[in-house]
Order: sequence, then C-alpha cells, then structure tokens
Amino acid sequence: MTRVFSGIKPTGPVQLGNLLGALRHWVADQGEADTVFCVVDLHALTVPQDPAELRSRTLELAQLLVAIGIDPDRSTLFVQSHVPEHAELSWILECTASFGELRRMTQFKDKSDGADFVSAGLFTYPALMAADILLYDTDRVPVGDDQRQHLELSRDLAIRFNHRYGDTFVVPEAAIPKVGARVMDLQQPTRKMSKSEDSPQGTILVLEPLDSVAKKIKRAVTDNDTEVRFDPEAKPGVSNLLSILGACTGEDPATVGETYTRYGDLKAACAEAVVETLRPIQDRFAELAADPEGTAALLAKGAAKAREVAVPTLARARHNLGLLAPH
Ligand code: TYM
Repeated sequence: MTRVFSGIKPTGPVQLGNLLGALRHWVADQGEADTVFCVVDLHALTVPQDPAELRSRTLELAQLLVAIGIDPDRSTLFVQSHVPEHAELSWILECTASFGELRRMTQFKDKSDGADFVSAGLFTYPALMAADILLYDTDRVPVGDDQRQHLELSRDLAIRFNHRYGDTFVVPEAAIPKVGARVMDLQQPTRKMSKSEDSPQGTILVLEPLDSVAKKIKRAVTDNDTEVRFDPEAKPGVSNLLSILGACTGEDPATVGETYTRYGDLKAACAEAVVETLRPIQDRFAELAADPEGTAALLAKGAAKAREVAVPTLARARHNLGLLAPH
C-alpha cells in the first residue's frame, strides 16, 4: 500500500491556505493509502517559542487535525518530538546534505533575511524535514506549493544516501494540488497567506468567527477593472478568490470565473463556500477541545504506532552507514 506522510508546524493559528493546500488532501488520502501525519514541534523551535504556548498549540493543532477529519484509527497521528528517531536521522541527513544546497533554500533566505537572530536549526531545517519523510518509507507527500523545494531536497538526499551506502530509503514524490496549492493573502494577493500573524485582514483562520471570515472575503483586494476572469498574473486578487472558491467546491477556477460577472457576487459566493467549509470543523473542534486527556492518549498511541516503522528504518540507516551496533 502506498505510504503517505505529511506534517504541519504548531507555530501559529492554522489558516485557510494550510487547509486548502494540504490538510484537506490528507483527509482525502485516508483509506486510499497508509497515512501518517505529524505535528512537527521540533521544526517550531527554529525560532524562539514561548514554552507554555508551544505546548498548548501542539495539543490544539492535533485536535484541529482530528476536527478536520484525520481519523486516528485510520491514520497514524503523532507529535514529532515523541518519536526521537526524527532528531537522530536528521543529524545523519545533515551530514548527507551539503552546505551549498541548504544555503540555496528559498525559505531559509526569506526567513533569515534581516532577522536579528538566525538559529543554526533554521539552516538545517530541511534535513529534519527529510528525516520526517524518509523514516516512514514514504511514497507520497501532500504539501502546498511552498514546500516544493524542500521535497526536491528530500529526494536528492535519499538518492545520495542510497548511492553511497546501498539501498536504504524510499525516494518520495511531492503531491501538490492543482487548485489551492498557493492561497494568497486577501489584502496583498501577490504574497502567500501565512500563519505568521502580520496581516490579520488578509489571513483567514480556520477557527476564527464565521462572520469575521465573511467580512474579510468581502473586503478582499481585487482590482480597478471589473471583469471576473481567472488570470493570476494580471488579476491576482480576483484569481485568488476564484481559486479559494474552486478549492472549496471542487470546481476549476477558470470555469468558476465564467459563472460570475460582478466582483460582489463572486465575493458573496466565495464567502459562503468558505464559511460552509469551516462551520463543521469549528463545531467538531469545540467538542474535542473539551477533552485534552483524550487527545493526549490518542497521540501516545500514534507515537507508538509511528515508532514501529521509524525504529527499523533508522536501524537500517545506522547499519548501512557503518555505525557500530550497541551490544
Ligand atoms: P507549514 O506548517 O508551514 O504548513 C503546513 C502545510 O500547509 C501548506 N500551506 C499552504 N498551502 C497553500 N497555500 C498557502 N498559503 C499555504 N501555507 C501553507 C504548506 O505547504 C504545508 O503543506 N516544512 C513544513 C512542515 C513539515 C513537513 C514535513 C511537511 C515538516 N516536516 C514533512 C511535509 C513533510 C511547513 O513548514 O509546513
């Protein structure tokens, strides 16, 4: 059976881009594949975190994944730091990656540019991400478009390691959706929507009050022209709304564009589609949030299940590398 793996960082409130670009596809993959999903708390440490907040965000993110439809009985759902093999394989892959290839990562350049403090972990971040993926003999990794380069690196590291030390890792493929792979900010539609909280009016949070969601969509930046048409280059704002609507309804954004003639009608339809997508998630989240013990217990089971795959993969890598087995 095909193995699917993906992860999400507990660094801020989950936004619509995470949902449409990745999380909905995780849900859809269940049943079709052996699915493994991870809250990547170690990746959050690349920038300083408030400890109490990190702890609560990690638990809440797991609850949100269940609310979205990740079924802990059908998928392996766990927290990265609960499976210590991730950190160990990460070191091995840091020694497989070159300084030059890590330096070329555009996310590193974007995040380090102008920052007061750049951790070494921010630089080696993609090696930990490759470890996440390679530990599970992953065939397919459903992610948004912004992870494309990291996925390419994970493939290169698997190929290089296999070449140097013999067949050890499965070489993974990225699965990037046709629609919704790059949800843009509603106020600055040439930059991607992100959890980083510096554009509150341009970002839709999955758990935000639904009237506020509708308002933000109705106030989204479009352009001076009046024609509804899918053309991301010339009409980024309108095209973003068409993509969001298409991702929610399963339609092609260009076809949706032919249905509307006025911006107001497009915005109303988009707002309704997003609100109806979020409503059941929010209802289910409210139930789960009342039971943190239940979530902690299912994460413990998930970590135990994950280790059944991670431990033998790491042992294989250690052996092939020539690390002496402990007696
Ligand atoms: P993260 O936590 O930033 O985002 C989680 C997922 O959401 C997607 N995404 C988007 N998709 C469409 N439009 C957007 N505006 C948008 N913003 C975010 C991301 O592409 C991602 O799929 N490095 C990863 C986490 C990670 C990981 C892994 C992923 C760690 N290890 C192993 C896959 C496999 C990240 O920072 O995602």
